[in-house]
Amino acid sequence: MSHLRHFVCSWRLFRHIKVPRVSTAVCCHGSPNSTTKRSMTVMPAWVIDKYGSNDELRFTRNASFPVINYPNEVIVRVHSAGLNPLDVSMRGGYGAASLSIKRDPLNIKQSGSEFPLILGRDASGVIMECGLDVKHFRERDEVWAAIPPWKQGSLAEFVVLSANEVSHKPKSLSHVEAAAVPYVAATAWSALVNTGGLCKDNCANKRILILGGSGGVGTFAIQMLKAWGAHVTVTCSENAELFVRGLGADHMVDYTVGPVEEQLAALEKFDLILDNVGGDMERWALNLLKPWCGAKFVTLVTPFLQNTDRLGIADGMMQNVATVATKALKHLVKGVHYRWGFFVASGPALDEISEMVDAGQIRAVVEDTFSFSQVPQAFEKMEKGHARGKTVVQISKEGDDS
Ligand SMILES: NC(=O)c1ccc[n+]([C@@H]2O[C@H](COP(=O)([O-])OP(=O)(O)OC[C@H]3O[C@@H](n4cnc5c(N)ncnc54)[C@H](OP(=O)(O)O)[C@@H]3O)[C@@H](O)[C@H]2O)c1
Repeated sequence: MSHLRHFVCSWRLFRHIKVPRVSTAVCCHGSPNSTTKRSMTVMPAWVIDKYGSNDELRFTRNASFPVINYPNEVIVRVHSAGLNPLDVSMRGGYGAASLSIKRDPLNIKQSGSEFPLILGRDASGVIMECGLDVKHFRERDEVWAAIPPWKQGSLAEFVVLSANEVSHKPKSLSHVEAAAVPYVAATAWSALVNTGGLCKDNCANKRILILGGSGGVGTFAIQMLKAWGAHVTVTCSENAELFVRGLGADHMVDYTVGPVEEQLAALEKFDLILDNVGGDMERWALNLLKPWCGAKFVTLVTPFLQNTDRLGIADGMMQNVATVATKALKHLVKGVHYRWGFFVASGPALDEISEMVDAGQIRAVVEDTFSFSQVPQAFEKMEKGHARGKTVVQISKEGDDS
C-alpha cells in the first residue's frame, strides 16, 4: 500500500500547476567560452527542433536566454553538462506525452511547443542571477544540479532552475567531475533512500544486489551503499570486474557467462535489489530476496513514460497503476515488496551527497569528456551503451563567469 501511496503522491506532484508570480527578465548574451552579461536575449546551445536521430542535434548561438519566472529560481552558468541514457531516449521522443503536460499543464500551447528543446540533465556551474526569494545561494556560488526532464537542459551556456533543485558543488571536484554525479546520484538516492528505505544508519550488514553495477547509477550506488556499511553484490560483464571492485563492490557476478540467475541463487539472499537493467530480471530476481523481512525489489526501468506515450495520459496512468498494483500484490503474498523507483530532483539530497564526496566516500566516475562542439559525438558514444561511468560535455571554462 505504501508503494501505491508513493505512486499517487508522485502523480499529484507531477500534476501540480504553478502560476508565475514574478517575471524578472534577465538579459545576457553569450558565445562559447566568452559570454558577458549585457542586454541580449540569446545564448549558445545544442537544441533539437523535432524528435529523431542524432541528425536532429543542432548548434545555435540564438537559443532563448533563460528567464527567472519564480522568485525561488536561479540562473546557472553551465561549466559542464552530464549526459544520461535519458537524453538519448528523449532525443527520440521518449516521454514526450507526459513531459509536454508537465511543461504546459493547461494545454495552452500548440503541440511541439517544447522545441527548440535543450537536452542534458546534469549541470555543474556558477550562479549568475538569483530570484528575489533565494536565500541559500549568492551570485558566483559554485553549484551542481540534476535537472528535471520537463525543463530545458544543460547543453547550453545557461540554465534556469528552482533553488530547491540546486546544491553547492563539492569543493573537491572540478566542474567536469561534478557534472558526472547529480542525475545518477539523485536517482540512486530516491530509489534507495525514499523508495528502498535505506539510510546511513540502517545499512550495516544489509545485503544489497545491484543489477547493472558498471553504469552511471550503479557506480554511484555501489559507493553510497559501501559508505553506509552495506554488503554489495553487483552484476556486470567480466571486463568491468576490476572497475566495480575498485569502487568497493564486495562480490561480482558476470552476467555474460551462463544464466546469471543460477549464479545469484547460489548466494545468501538479499535485503534489497536495485534493478538498473530491466527486461526479464523481474521474472526471477524477486526470488533472491529474503522473504517476510521487509526485503524490497526497486526497479528503475519502468514502463511509466512508455505507457503514457502509447496510450495517452489518462489511459497510460490507469495502465501504470494497474501494472504496479498487480505486481506489488503478486509479490507481497510471497513476502517481498516490488516497487518502481524514479529520479527526483533534490537539492537537499545533493547537499548530503556533496558532504560524502568531500569526505572522500564517493568519487565521480567520468568515463569520457567531450568539448561543447562535440555534443553529437558524445551522444554517439552514449548510444553504444556499455557505460563504465559517465559522459560529460565541457561547456565553458573557469574564468568565464564575469
Ligand atoms: N526511473 C528513473 O527515473 C530512471 C532514472 C535514471 C536512470 N534510469 C534507467 O536506469 C537504467 C540505468 O541507468 P544508467 O544511467 O546507470 O545507465 P548506463 O550508464 O547506460 O549503465 C547501464 C549499465 O548496465 C550494464 N548492463 C547492461 N545489460 C546488463 C545486464 N543484463 N546485466 C548487468 N549489467 C548490464 C551496462 O554495461 P554492459 O552492457 O557492458 O554490461 C551498463 O554499464 C537505464 O535504463 C536508465 O534509463 C531510470
